[in-house]
Amino acid sequence: MNLITRPATPFEGQRPGTSGLRKKVSVFQQPGYLENFVQALFNVLGDARGKTLVVGGDGRFYNRVAIQTILRMAAAHGYARVLVGQGGILSTPAMSAVIRSRSASGGIVLSASHNPGGPDGDFGIKYNIANGGPAPESVTEAIYLRSREITQIQILDSPDLPLDALGTHALLGTTIEIIDPVADYSAVQRALFDFDAIRALFARGFRLRLDTMWAVGGPYAKAIIEGELGAPEGTVVNATPREDFGGLHPDPNPVNATDLIDHMRAADAPDMGAATDGDADRNMIVGRNFAVSPSDSLAVLAAHATRIPGYAAGLAGVARSMPTSTAVDRVAAKLGIACFETPTGWKFFGNLLDAGKVTLCGEESYGTGSSHIREKDGLWAVLFWLNLIAVTGQSVEQLVRALWAEHGRCVYSRHDYEGIPTDQADALMRDLRAALPDLPGTILAGEPVAIADDFAYTDPTDGSVSSKQGVRIILQSGSRVVFRLSGTGTEGATLRIYLERHAPDPAHHDLPAQQALAPLVALAEQVARVRHFTGMDTPSVMT
Ligand code: G1P
Ligand code: ZN
Repeated sequence: MNLITRPATPFEGQRPGTSGLRKKVSVFQQPGYLENFVQALFNVLGDARGKTLVVGGDGRFYNRVAIQTILRMAAAHGYARVLVGQGGILSTPAMSAVIRSRSASGGIVLSASHNPGGPDGDFGIKYNIANGGPAPESVTEAIYLRSREITQIQILDSPDLPLDALGTHALLGTTIEIIDPVADYSAVQRALFDFDAIRALFARGFRLRLDTMWAVGGPYAKAIIEGELGAPEGTVVNATPREDFGGLHPDPNPVNATDLIDHMRAADAPDMGAATDGDADRNMIVGRNFAVSPSDSLAVLAAHATRIPGYAAGLAGVARSMPTSTAVDRVAAKLGIACFETPTGWKFFGNLLDAGKVTLCGEESYGTGSSHIREKDGLWAVLFWLNLIAVTGQSVEQLVRALWAEHGRCVYSRHDYEGIPTDQADALMRDLRAALPDLPGTILAGEPVAIADDFAYTDPTDGSVSSKQGVRIILQSGSRVVFRLSGTGTEGATLRIYLERHAPDPAHHDLPAQQALAPLVALAEQVARVRHFTGMDTPSVMT
């Protein structure tokens, strides 16, 4: 086992996006590609002596290869200890839990989240810092800059380590410990929720269908929902992680989790449906024949949080990403707590959580979480809903309808235009930005425009500024259209158009969302010439 230094040449484009560096598997398979990025990361992190690093991923194709490389490099850089999830498995929220419970200096997550996997799919790598959350932009930018100057990498020439059995190994001076990927995570959930109440709910015959989409959520859900909480076997479906997620798209929304939606529409539908994504940080909640919008889910959780043991003392505040609907703002106002609006991406919540300014946070993209860790957490959301149903005796639909009755319904949809040429997407955003100064006061969709700007965020804890975070056109009534380009895609550009309209009148609560939002879709076309720039008549995905 020797420490070796290999010459390296920089690769183009190793800039982390909304959530780490994501590329096609074939890009990561280029000799030296992963090594360069990890070297840049270790260079930025500095002295590793005495430190603990956590490594694990969502089990997708290339996970094991990447982990072996990272272990050789971590040992070469002198980490004292590296903790690896058994079989190379750690869901994103479990990674956050392990970093925190073991006081690690950070962790490397191998995942491309909800993006498809397999040899033709996507792969990704993300660094999480000591608070358990995604590295902030200052760190990810430093990694990128460093990746452009890489001249050599340091690695061991050691053989692969066995990842499938618990135990410890020595790599040079580094102790590699293969840990149970579920234990730390379960302990965190047990401390938050009333497991007895949920157990009693299942004992009364409550039926849940939890679809973990052949992804990493399976082992966690099996252990907690079926194991500890006594739900019948078969409650968790598609539970064995597969390297290609069964050839499906592990994104828990009504478009990709069609099997779950079909089950929830059937005459004998279970009481509640839920799904988690590739790395188990996203969640979708479904009632009987009733899909819950993620923005509404966040608002319901906030409204009832004090019924949950872990939040009984009340919420310090809440936060949502800018495009997420304002439903939670209305709940926060009622509760008399602060509501923060951050740019898209979980990394912006970290500082607010660390500073104790917020307890719950969420995004429209099927992500919800809290101060218990520093990542969004799919199974946590499922447990929260189960706990609420157990103590209120209300169904999923009743809880959401009560929210609408009290605050009005924030009718919401996101339209994605995928795989458009990057120059066309850039041109659309450029023209749109140029048009913004003239928009306030003009009448669009029958109302005056109140605000037309490009969202910029100043972090209230460290003063860092993130600009160009999405173009917003907000009408006098609060209805709004938001435009931004995805930062997680791997092919061309994806334009996301977010549409929100507040419907106070219960008579309008059952209008199909797309129908209620049609005037805003027309507004988007009018101001941004979406058809012209995307070459598409309709979005590729509507959620
Ligand atoms: C997408 C979502 C965003 C989420 C991110 C990681 O990013 O929109 O809310 O935080 O995935 O799960 P985007 O592709 O829009 O940059
Ligand atoms: Zn994810």
